[in-house]
Amino acid sequence: MGFGYIDVTLVGIAALKNPDLGHKLDDFRKAGLTGEQAENFDFELGYVYTLEKFRGKGICPKLIQGIFKKSPSKKIYATTKKSNATMEKINERMGFEKIGTSYVGEEEKIQLYVLKKS
Ligand SMILES: CC(C)(COP(=O)(O)OP(=O)(O)OC[C@H]1O[C@@H](n2cnc3c(N)ncnc32)[C@H](O)[C@@H]1OP(=O)(O)O)[C@@H](O)C(=O)NCCC(=O)NCCS
Repeated sequence: MGFGYIDVTLVGIAALKNPDLGHKLDDFRKAGLTGEQAENFDFELGYVYTLEKFRGKGICPKLIQGIFKKSPSKKIYATTKKSNATMEKINERMGFEKIGTSYVGEEEKIQLYVLKKS
């Protein structure tokens, strides 16, 4: 989990979640992919949030880079609401690519992303 501070104010967070196999299979299968593909991934990017007042200052990308650097595995995926254009832009800047087909989640359409191999 990464915490971004400006002075003593917590302004942003980002985390790598460690989903169990069932959760990963569910995410990948809903995107039309196989269980084997899901098993290739160790972590899921999540809990990404920057306080409204501090948005647009690069805090989120900095936090994501920080947690990736510390991560023992670069086999990382993410699921993002299709309507979240800001997060889509950040995912692409962080080295993720879209994979599979978007699917209807609990509320909205979801797109699966995987971190490209560097
Ligand atoms: C998505 C989110 C974490 C981005 O955080 P951030 O620290 O503002 O990220 P960045 O500084 O890189 O800004 C990204 C984009 O936000 C937009 N932006 C710029 N200023 C902004 C502002 N004042 N308010 C809102 N968005 C702004 C711009 O499109 C910017 O892209 P640019 O770099 O091409 O100008 C943040 O918008 C957020 O917390 N949103 C609500 C929670 C959410 O959607 N989380 C992701 C769930 S998967």
